[in-house]
Order: sequence, then structure tokens, then C-alpha cells
Amino acid sequence: MIVIKAATELNHFLNGLKIKSKKIGFVATMGALHSGHISLIERSNRENDTTVCSIFVNPRQFNDPKDLEKYPRPIEKDILLLVKAGCNVLFIPDYEDIYSPNYVEPKINLEGLDTILEGAMRPGHFKGVALVVKRLFECVKPDAAYFGQKDYQQTLVIKQIVKEFKLPVKIVVTEIHREENGLAMSSRNIRLSYEQRNRAGFIYSALLQLKSNLKYLDINEALIKAKESILKEAGAKIEYLTIVEPDTLAQIEKIDQERSAIALVVVNYFGVRLLDNIYL
Ligand code: PAF
Repeated sequence: MIVIKAATELNHFLNGLKIKSKKIGFVATMGALHSGHISLIERSNRENDTTVCSIFVNPRQFNDPKDLEKYPRPIEKDILLLVKAGCNVLFIPDYEDIYSPNYVEPKINLEGLDTILEGAMRPGHFKGVALVVKRLFECVKPDAAYFGQKDYQQTLVIKQIVKEFKLPVKIVVTEIHREENGLAMSSRNIRLSYEQRNRAGFIYSALLQLKSNLKYLDINEALIKAKESILKEAGAKIEYLTIVEPDTLAQIEKIDQERSAIALVVVNYFGVRLLDNIYL
């Protein structure tokens, strides 16, 4: 695996491959890699000639400076995992490489996706994500980019920038990787204690219960039951649990066979925000 720090060097290296019509797959990360990330690398390896992974903890998407400070950065462990997974290129840019003083920030229209749900809880977060992903796409110019479904709203934001700027990249969203107890894998899980992490499967259990209850309960009743089961857990607070239309995130009042729906949840568990979702 080649480790590249400067965007210009990356450009030079990847141009050499593009001239030979090699397909480039891209996995953008903030490091603290887990098997969810590794499965994205493996999928990219299967579908492309070269896989590029970036590790960049993007300050612009943290609305809480303490969260940024606490974000785990186990770079040596990450490198070992990437080598083992067969990643070809690791791009670790500096802040100036991504946000150089000459870089003219684009105006990005996220069509309101940045002001609801996760966007409402974390003002400015999705603008920061959109900015960095657009910038990383400019550096890597991948044929395909791979993102996990756990950050569902983020995948819509990324599809929106691809659409708005007509970027020639295919966005592949892969299913959620879970720990044995059902907890969705996330770099933040390492902030839970051993015992909390073992218990945190209750979030996915509540989503499964919600899905099954919707066979005979209406949305409000089923949501109340799911919320009750989450709130039974000491240390759990619900930031939101909602059922929405998968493309627009518009609230759904009634489940019917004709249209698809997805339940999105964020539980703050002992101070750690845990995101999850399930198609209904
Ligand atoms: O999901 C993440 O890790 C980040 O939001 C991303 C897409 C790498 C942008 O910084």
C-alpha cells in the first residue's frame, strides 16, 4: 500500500492509472477503522482495479469542538488494517491540502437535507461533510465511492452533491455492519465501556421490534412501543426515532405496500451518539 500525503502527489499517481483506463474505487473515512470500513474496502477491491482510502478527520463537520478533540485517531492500527484488507493507496491529507487558502468554497445546495433530523441536531455538520467529500472527490476522481448505510442521511447528502455538481462518480451504499449483539458498527463505539457496548444491542432490537409491530399497529403506536423499550435502558436518551420516506426524509404517517419507508434513530447512550436505521 502506498501512503500519500499531498493532493498533488495523489493526482500525479492516479493520473498514471487513469491513462491506462484503470478503475478507481474510493472509501472516504475519518480513521478509527472497523470491520464496516474494511468491508467497504473489500467491496471496492472486488469492483475496481485500485482502491484509494482517505483518512482525514474533517474539522468542518464537527459542530462540537469537544467531539472533534475526542475523535479517536489510531493511525498505526488503521494502516495495518488497510494493508491486510488489500487497500492500494492511503491518502492522508493535511488540513491545508483540503482547505488550501486558494480554495474557493463552492456554494452547496443540499435541498434542506442539512436542516432536518441529523442536520437539525448538528447544525453545519452536513455542509462540512458535503464540502470535504466534494473536495476529496476532486482529489481522487474515483469511478465509484463506497459509503455505509449506517449514516443514512449522509448518503443522501453525498448523492445530492453528485447530482448538483454532475460528478462522474457512482455512489455505492452498503448494508450496515453489526457487532454480534446487533449494535451498528461505528468508530464511536470504542468510547463505550465494555459493558455498555455489550448492552448497546438494545437499539437494533428496538428497530426490529418496531418493524415487526408495524404489521399490526399504526405508526404512532409502534413508535411509542419502540421508544419505551429504548428508554428502559439506563443511560439511554432518544434524540430522534422517526419513520420517513427514504429519498426525501419526509415523515410518513401510514405504512403501505406501495411505498418504501425507513426508520431512523439516534440514541445518546452515556454521552455517545449511536445512529442506526432499518428499512421497513
Ligand atoms: O462518514 C465519515 O466518516 C465522514 O463523514 C466522511 C464521509 C469521511 C467525511 O468526512
